[in-house]
Amino acid sequence: MMLILPDVLAAEQLAQCRHALSRAQWIDGRSTAGHMAAHAKHNQQLAADDPLAVQLGNLILDVLGVNPRFISATLPLKVLPPAFNRYEGGGNYGNHIDNAIRSLPGTAHRVRTDISATLFLTPPEEYEGGELVVEDTYGSHPVKLPAGHMVIYPGTSLHRVNPVTRGARIAAFFWVQSLVRDEIQRETLYRMDTAIQQLTREVRDSAALVQLTGVYHNLLRQWSQT
Ligand code: NI
Repeated sequence: MMLILPDVLAAEQLAQCRHALSRAQWIDGRSTAGHMAAHAKHNQQLAADDPLAVQLGNLILDVLGVNPRFISATLPLKVLPPAFNRYEGGGNYGNHIDNAIRSLPGTAHRVRTDISATLFLTPPEEYEGGELVVEDTYGSHPVKLPAGHMVIYPGTSLHRVNPVTRGARIAAFFWVQSLVRDEIQRETLYRMDTAIQQLTREVRDSAALVQLTGVYHNLLRQWSQT
């Protein structure tokens, strides 16, 4: 399931991020790519231990920690700290699948990349190209979102970033290990939770809704791993 989360960042949070990133120390993105991916990757990133990356990453994690749709759709067990990249002057990232396992920087903790996330930080009118293109069995899906919007998609997906031919595209990206590893089970729970939330607003006191909410939690109990 690919899902777009609008307005993850409020206007003032977005402005704070963009202002800080306008003075950031960008480094060659290939330094953080695996052997195979390094050939395909032509962009810039912030170092994982860059204090600015840590500070803005924490801001994003705080915001997502209280975002009901993000929590419902990802059912997060572990979230890697957001990283930041920048594409300009034809910069691009050719087709690849992300590494399955990533280490939490500076620790022995490892995270399985069930879900990939990209938070767009540059307004689309400020650059040409730069679409994130995610391939699945239904075809190619180009994604280019307003600044502050985020897309999540399965970590198993083949994807690329098209060349940025004008301006510069800055984004935050990170991965989530979900409590529910199976993509279809996770999507089922998301759709059920969304329906329950809507019914809760519409019908309020309902014995059937209590039952249905119980079924959601019992499925989550069956399917989750901690
Ligand atoms: Ni990738």
